[in-house]
Amino acid sequence: AENIGVRAIDVYFPSRYVDQVELEQHDGVSAGKYTIGLGQSKMAFCDDREDISSACMTAVQNFMEKNNIPYSDIGRLEVGTETIIDKSKSTKTVLMKLFEESGNFNVEGIDTTNACYGGTSALFNACQWMDSSAWDGRLALVIAGDIAVYAKGSARSTGGCGIACILVGPDAPLALEFPLRGTFMEHIYDFYKPNMSSEFPTVDGPLSVTSYVRAVDHAYSAYLDKLEKIENISNPSLENLDYVIWHSPYTKQVVKGFARLAYNDFTRSPDAPQFADVQQFKDVGREESYTNKVLEKAFINVSKTSFAAKTERSLLAARNIGNMYTGSVFFGLASLLSQVSFDELKNKRIAMFSYGSGCTASMYSFRVRADTTEIAKNLDLANRLESRTKVSPAEFEAIMDLREKTHNAIEYEPTGSVESMFPGTYYLQKVDSMWRRAYGRT
Ligand code: ACO
Repeated sequence: AENIGVRAIDVYFPSRYVDQVELEQHDGVSAGKYTIGLGQSKMAFCDDREDISSACMTAVQNFMEKNNIPYSDIGRLEVGTETIIDKSKSTKTVLMKLFEESGNFNVEGIDTTNACYGGTSALFNACQWMDSSAWDGRLALVIAGDIAVYAKGSARSTGGCGIACILVGPDAPLALEFPLRGTFMEHIYDFYKPNMSSEFPTVDGPLSVTSYVRAVDHAYSAYLDKLEKIENISNPSLENLDYVIWHSPYTKQVVKGFARLAYNDFTRSPDAPQFADVQQFKDVGREESYTNKVLEKAFINVSKTSFAAKTERSLLAARNIGNMYTGSVFFGLASLLSQVSFDELKNKRIAMFSYGSGCTASMYSFRVRADTTEIAKNLDLANRLESRTKVSPAEFEAIMDLREKTHNAIEYEPTGSVESMFPGTYYLQKVDSMWRRAYGRT
């Protein structure tokens, strides 16, 4: 198959959010900590009516209805998530419920898990299936998303919730540039979920932040080396990437990640004219650079214009929803496609940086080769974000307490609000005595 990649993309996020200015006041932190310090405006969340299966069903069913795709056209379905409600049964198998009516049970793929990276691995799997002799000519769906919740404390404001649904096919408007890929993986305890009885991760915040940046260095560097070799480009740099989409735990981290691309370009070509003002960092060692705040600021400054052109518009969802873990990069892609016209995107390269704690990271890219207008129209992202309902921080906290108390509950009927949900949303009706879950749809 030729030009395998993203044929279409849609996203699901819950109808309710908490405002980050109000959350700063409620949490008693200094004004600006969440909104300027972390760069967040709103945070989406759900109550006990939603779990990872219901949220993924919502994303898939709405996508298939909106795009008019029969379930019989799908030969592979991959789910990337780190929101685990069962140690054996995959979310993919729950999604097979949606295929029943079509009679299509011949669908490969299961769940892929490692922090925020599972969706990227799922996408690679789907594209590689299509590129292989195992492909049977049908399309693939990649679902990437999470319910991102943290225990009370400094990390809670970096939660969020969202699921992306991506249709992978040949002759795609966004063609994956197969050989252009740089990956970095190592063993590190920065963010992990060892407590099986809790929804919350165990987090070493400062370590996760430096780990993210180290992964940017390595993945970007490996990506540029491929570019140099495969496309015969000498001194490849940020100049060769038209847009850069990021895993966004909060948008300030993305600003820092982007600045790091400039820093890496500087280490590769310190005498390039755009680096005239940062010559004083020539002798700073790489290890030292991770904690050097003056250096960080200087490279944020150097990369400001480039950031505004190549990344800013991809942060619409991240800023207004929060972290969506595996869904985050794809919400970035959806934001870019809905904010930038095809006239501008045409023939451009979109690079993606995916980071999952633990850690796993890749930089890879798409080439825009056909019209994206229909995708943008179907996404209708800005309007849909605007149509949500604001909830007070006190109510948000009560809902988080409810989720915490009822996590893993057996013989349980949720009490959360079905009325507040967007039309077409799946919700949890009941968990029976054998932990079997029943769902309804609004
Ligand atoms: N006005 C403006 N800026 C402020 C204000 C204020 N009033 N108050 C604080 N800030 C700035 C700080 O200077 C800091 O900026 P810096 O990052 O440039 O140094 C920033 O806001 C954050 O403040 P901290 O005091 O460092 O925040 P805290 O210690 O509460 O924790 C953290 C932040 C570590 C990100 C925490 O929220 C966390 O653990 N989150 C989850 C882990 C995470 O998301 N990691 C990222 C990658 S891994 C992943 O995706 C899960």
